Amino acid sequence: MTQHFIVIGNPISHSQSPTIHQVFAEQVGIDISYQRQYCPDDDASFGAVVEAFFNGGGIGANVTVPFKQSAYTYCQTQGGLSEHARVAGAVNTLLLKNSTLYGDNTDGQGLVNHMISLGWTLTDARVAIIGAGGAARGVILPLIEAGIGALTLSNRTLSRAQTLVTELSAASPLVAQHTIATRTTNELTGEFDIVINATSIGLSDATLPLSDTLRTHFAYDMMYGRPLNFLQHFAARGARVSDGYGMLINQAALSFARWTGQAVNVERATDTLLQDAK
Ligand code: ATR
Repeated sequence: MTQHFIVIGNPISHSQSPTIHQVFAEQVGIDISYQRQYCPDDDASFGAVVEAFFNGGGIGANVTVPFKQSAYTYCQTQGGLSEHARVAGAVNTLLLKNSTLYGDNTDGQGLVNHMISLGWTLTDARVAIIGAGGAARGVILPLIEAGIGALTLSNRTLSRAQTLVTELSAASPLVAQHTIATRTTNELTGEFDIVINATSIGLSDATLPLSDTLRTHFAYDMMYGRPLNFLQHFAARGARVSDGYGMLINQAALSFARWTGQAVNVERATDTLLQDAK
């Protein structure tokens, strides 16, 4: 029997999730339908779409921009939340658990899993994250759980980084116990093992003001799909670099596993997707 899935967003026509999940389903031999679901940008419409889908027998939904916070609020008031979703304040994966709507967030663990598959060492790594919006919020707890060492959170607007640390520390004892420094981005200097760009700057033509004395072994940009100045900057200085395409596939694989109980071979699926894109 066909299992039904959707990704809810606005806009949604660009979403690669249907293609990615179809490759996963073929790999593990199950029959799925995975559709893009447009939704007007208001909470009431979002709730109506979710209810219609799950009342109609849907198995799982992904949630993307701009609804990750709406999905969090919806699950907080009407269902349940995973620890990662609760601390992130955002939901990217919806499913039914004992007939109740349950919200999870696989973005941060997707980033961690991708870095591990690249062979990057996370244990005790000195990590700097640039950005203090929703993308940064979602990855901090999973990185700490993965065993990173000292963390520096930098942002153009310092107060936003400080507020994020305060909020995450209040939400999670694990975050509260961790050493997290805050800096403005142009004052981020020194040597790190991993620097992560979690800003939305890749959507514009602007460039981050990166200090010449900022050094890292690995640089990761959570964006993908266009040339990224951030990665070019560090690649030119000898760092190993990655864009966020692998994070996208890994977060999808985690959602797929939550819904179907099936673990996919992410590397093999990525090869298939890159081959099909040619
Ligand atoms: P997201 O959910 O993608 O994280 P967001 O919550 O709007 O989006 O956060 C955007 C992040 O990108 C913020 O850290 C923002 O910095 P500020 O808090 O100072 O606004 C950062 N950002 C966006 N455009 C930027 C730019 N041109 N230069 C530096 N940082 C930028």
